[in-house]
Amino acid sequence: MFEPAVSDASMGSTAPGFPGAAAKPQAASIISVEHVFKSVTDSTGTLAILRDIDFALAARETAAIVGASGSGKSTLLSIIAGLDTPTEGTVKLAGQDLFALSEDDRAALRAQKVGFVFQSFQLMGNLTALENVMLPLELSGAKNARAQATEMLRRVGLGERLGHYPKVLSGGEQQRVALARAFVVQPAVLLADEPTGSLDFATGETVMSLMFELNRELGTTLVLVTHDQGIAARCERRITIDAGRVVSA
Ligand SMILES: Nc1ncnc2c1ncn2[C@@H]1O[C@H](COP(=O)(O)OP(=O)(O)OP(=O)(O)O)[C@@H](O)[C@H]1O
Ligand SMILES: [Mg+2]
Repeated sequence: MFEPAVSDASMGSTAPGFPGAAAKPQAASIISVEHVFKSVTDSTGTLAILRDIDFALAARETAAIVGASGSGKSTLLSIIAGLDTPTEGTVKLAGQDLFALSEDDRAALRAQKVGFVFQSFQLMGNLTALENVMLPLELSGAKNARAQATEMLRRVGLGERLGHYPKVLSGGEQQRVALARAFVVQPAVLLADEPTGSLDFATGETVMSLMFELNRELGTTLVLVTHDQGIAARCERRITIDAGRVVSA
């Protein structure tokens, strides 16, 4: 059975914590979603996926996006990350209008500010667990990528799996590699699509603790898509989506 390497209790005393904690100024809105619509058209017609989504999140806020399967949660998260484009509307990240930027500038802003955990993990199959986690650090020019990536994998309980490729890891292990990859750059915003969906209770708790620790120590804004009521309850905000509309925020 999997034993989490880091428990909530041990984390504070034995783990070094995230460097550079505390001294972050509080911004007004780190994420602002303004009248966002998304529709897709194919030979069978037009499907409205998101209809007039409008809300803002302050820096350091924690928000759960909840709603039935197919309601548009993953689509909304991808648009907030600038990975998908809205049909109409504006998304501002740290005050910058994401879709007014060139694709290169948008990618640079994302690399600088956002960690993203996909519902489907999206690990690079030709890279080991360690190399997957090192990748965003290397792209941002970090000097000690190997040491930082190793430490983050240890914190998600995968210290013994550094050299393993995604295809030999279980679904939950792949999910933890994806989480480590998103955490390791200590992003201002962490967007996670069902981050504990493939994890057993204990591992899910470890990963949730890590996310809320990022939030407390570095002021990371958390936006979590989840079907788990317990996780949703731990977030300050719950944004409920029903058939592409926000019904409560
Ligand atoms: N590119 C696309 N083309 C056509 N339909 C799409 C496309 N992307 C999403 N959809 C549809 O839009 C709806 C919302 O999808 P989305 O993945 O955002 O839902 P979700 O709320 O994340 O669901 P789940 O909880 O099952 O992950 C679904 O009906 C989906 O089939
Ligand atoms: Mg989804």
